[in-house]
Amino acid sequence: MTANKMWGGRFESGPAAIMEAINTSIDFDKRLASQDIRGSQAHADMLAQMRIIGKADAEAIQDGLIAIKREIERGRFPYRREYEDIHMNVEARLAELIGSAAGRLHTARSRNDQVATDLRLWVRDACARADAGLVKLQTALLAQATRHADTIMPGFTHMQPAQPVTFGHHCLAYIEMCARDRGRFVDCTRRLNESPLGAAALAGTSYPIDREMTAKALGFDAPMRNSLDAVSSRDFALEFLAAASIAASHLSRLAEEIVLWASPAYGFIRLPDAFSTGSSIMPQKRNPDAAELSRAKVGRILGAFAGLLVVVKGLPLAYAKDLQEDKEPVFAAADALELALAALAGMSGELQINKDAMRAAAEKGYPTATDLADWLVAKLRKPFREAHHLAARAVQRAEELGVSLDKLPLSEMKKIAPKITKDVYKVLSLEASVRSRTSLGGTAPKRVREQIAFWKGKL
Ligand code: ARG
Repeated sequence: MTANKMWGGRFESGPAAIMEAINTSIDFDKRLASQDIRGSQAHADMLAQMRIIGKADAEAIQDGLIAIKREIERGRFPYRREYEDIHMNVEARLAELIGSAAGRLHTARSRNDQVATDLRLWVRDACARADAGLVKLQTALLAQATRHADTIMPGFTHMQPAQPVTFGHHCLAYIEMCARDRGRFVDCTRRLNESPLGAAALAGTSYPIDREMTAKALGFDAPMRNSLDAVSSRDFALEFLAAASIAASHLSRLAEEIVLWASPAYGFIRLPDAFSTGSSIMPQKRNPDAAELSRAKVGRILGAFAGLLVVVKGLPLAYAKDLQEDKEPVFAAADALELALAALAGMSGELQINKDAMRAAAEKGYPTATDLADWLVAKLRKPFREAHHLAARAVQRAEELGVSLDKLPLSEMKKIAPKITKDVYKVLSLEASVRSRTSLGGTAPKRVREQIAFWKGKL
């Protein structure tokens, strides 16, 4: 093996195989190829503009970069492990294509500012893709909410039947969560959108570069102010991973509910065929694998976040090769998130809702007991605590007789509170209960429709 062509000036023999194995990143950082080329194009333009390199060389470099870009797009680019990473692979290929002018591209920059720039560009795109995926999920949920603004289901606390709600209302809760997730990716994008390019290795450069120009060319809002910070900070990646982890935690909750609802014990939904799998042994099965896998992705994503946080913790300034370990977690998390988003959007959009099963479940567990207590407060002027106690006795009696609250005879009601009138039955049905929850954000179909209108305007 010969010495490395890029930095091997004072090395006599090539790296040991183990050295190459631990050092090389091309197997994964090839995913930065298009960002790397964009960065080089902006840098070469600026070098020419500032007369740091000649016009002819700059043109040759630009032509070569375009040719390389095409090779990459067509899957023809020869990725080579001996060139370590994407930056040196591109530069080496450029030298093959255009000769010695290629050697001028790396003037006034270092792989340290180069890789920081590339990864920022990549994460910026990943934030946009996450946002688009979240919008798709929101849209699918909104369609369900629109269809089911009046569909009654049991609302749970502690997984115990609590009060009836509508399925539309339930879908809207996830739309809100997705909206905050989107906000986190927007925040992340805003903060990461400064250019490290021109920080060079760590200290800046003596060449008269124009960092504003490259920042602008790459769509950054401004150059980063401090070159040491520019090459050594990865909090933008951490922020992306944190946002992804939180989003994935929401997805896991939705996925979990889909798994539960699709089980025969609930029977609330039927999964679309496209998102169900059979069992190799039990012919009757319709397994919610896609929902389960979406539920599980948070493990990988949060693992990526924790992993990178540990890598950067305690790292002295400025660049250290530890930072090469930033890419795999970012890529893995972005991939997992996108996949889970797509799966859940697909599933949510096509869920068939079994209204009867939802309703039957909502009837169980005396979910209008609160409505009875509220009626006693409103009509008989009972203090809420006493009304709560009386309603509990009514539930107990209904349980003994094996009937629902709205079927408990008036004579029984009167034994509990003599002044109760048949008027009380008006509030004891599921529909009446749901209809009465008209406070802002409540489950009343009227309120649910307002929320739907709000989201239709937004999405
Ligand atoms: N592949 C490297 C990384 O991802 C690029 C920067 C290398 N810089 C260096 N000084 N060796 O971090």
